[in-house]
Amino acid sequence: MEKKLVAGVIGLKMGRHHLKAVIDSGHEVGAICDIDAAQMKLIGDEHGIPEEKRYTDWKQLVDLPLDVVLIVTPDQLHREMSETFLAAGKHVMCEKPLAIVREDLDAIVAAAEKANTKFMVGQICRFTPSFVKAKEIVDTGTIGELYYVESEYAHDYAKILHAWRADPNRHGVVGGGCHAVDLLRWFAGDPLEVFAYGSHKLLPAAPYDDATIAVLKWPNGICGKVFVSTGCKRPYTMRTLFYGTKGTIICDNTSDHMELYTLSEDGIAVNPEPEIIPIDINNHNALKEFEVLADHILNDTPVKMSAREGAKTVATCMAIVESAKTGKPVVPNYEF
Ligand SMILES: NC(=O)c1ccc[n+]([C@@H]2O[C@H](COP(=O)([O-])OP(=O)(O)OC[C@H]3O[C@@H](n4cnc5c(N)ncnc54)[C@H](O)[C@@H]3O)[C@@H](O)[C@H]2O)c1
Repeated sequence: MEKKLVAGVIGLKMGRHHLKAVIDSGHEVGAICDIDAAQMKLIGDEHGIPEEKRYTDWKQLVDLPLDVVLIVTPDQLHREMSETFLAAGKHVMCEKPLAIVREDLDAIVAAAEKANTKFMVGQICRFTPSFVKAKEIVDTGTIGELYYVESEYAHDYAKILHAWRADPNRHGVVGGGCHAVDLLRWFAGDPLEVFAYGSHKLLPAAPYDDATIAVLKWPNGICGKVFVSTGCKRPYTMRTLFYGTKGTIICDNTSDHMELYTLSEDGIAVNPEPEIIPIDINNHNALKEFEVLADHILNDTPVKMSAREGAKTVATCMAIVESAKTGKPVVPNYEF
C-alpha cells in the first residue's frame, strides 16, 4: 500500500464508524478523543487503542504528528475544530452538516480554501452503494435526461433529541435533511429556488418543525421535492426517486435492492417490470469515504465533497427553513 496516514478521530459515537474505517483501510490511528470517558473506554478497548493515544481534550491533538483529523463532534463545534486543525497544517474531514449558522459556513469555507491541506465534508450519501449505483445509471444516460428528483429523510429523533440537536439552529432540514438535499444537489446541481411548508405534531420539545416538505427548481428544467420528517413513526430510511425522459430509478439507503424502469422496444412505453438491482446495504459507508479522503491526500486529487460543496448544501437547507417560516419562495445564497 501507499504511505500510511496517521489519523486522529474526535467524537466517538458516529466517530466509531470513522475509526473502524481508518483501521480497516490499513491506515494508522494516532489519537482518539472524546470528553466522555466511558465512551472513550468502550471504543478504545474495542479497537485496542493504547492509553497513550486516548485524549479528552481535543486541543491536545493539535501538536501531535497527525496527518488527518476526523471531526465527528456536535455540529456547533465543527467551525472551531476545523479552523484550528487547518491552521495547524492537518488534513481534515468534518461531519455533516458542515455548520448550522451562516457565519460558521463562511468561516470554514474561507479557512479550507486558504489552507494547503485537504478538507472534506462527510456527506455520506455520496458513498452509499444504492445512491452511487443510481448516479452511475444516470451518468451513463440509461434513464435519459432527468426532469424530476425526489428524496426524503425519515428518521425518528424522539430518542436522540439531545441538547445540541435541540438547538433552534439545528432544524431537522439542516441537521439530517441535509442528506436528502445534498443527494439531490449531487444529481441535479444547485437549486435555483425553493418553497416549503412545515408541520409540528410529533416532537413538541423540538424548537422547530418536525416535518417539512419543500419543492425545488433546478436549472435545465429539473424540478423536485425533499421531505424531511424527524418525528416519523416508521423505521429510518431515505426513499429516493430519479425520473428521467427514458426511465425511472426507485431506491433508498436501507433496502437490499433498487428498481430500474426502462423503455420497452418501442422506445415509448415503459417496461412494466423493473430491473431489480441487488444492493449491498451500507448506509454508513465510512470505509469508502475514508478511502476517497486518503486518495485525495496521498495523490493530491481535488476534493469533490469540499467545504464549498458542503456549505452550498446547508445554504439550500437554510433557504428551505426560511421559506417554511416566511411562506415565500427563497433563492439560496451560494455566495461564500
Ligand atoms: N453521516 C451520518 O450519517 C451521520 C450520522 C450521525 C451523526 N452525524 C454527525 O456526526 C456528528 C456527531 O454526531 P453523533 O451522532 O456522533 O453525536 P452524539 O451526540 O451521539 O455523539 C457525539 C460525541 O462527541 C463527543 N464530544 C462532544 N463534545 C466533544 C468535545 N468537545 N471534544 C471531544 N468529544 C466531544 C461526545 O461525548 C459524544 O461521544 C454530528 O455532526 C452529526 O451531525 C453524521
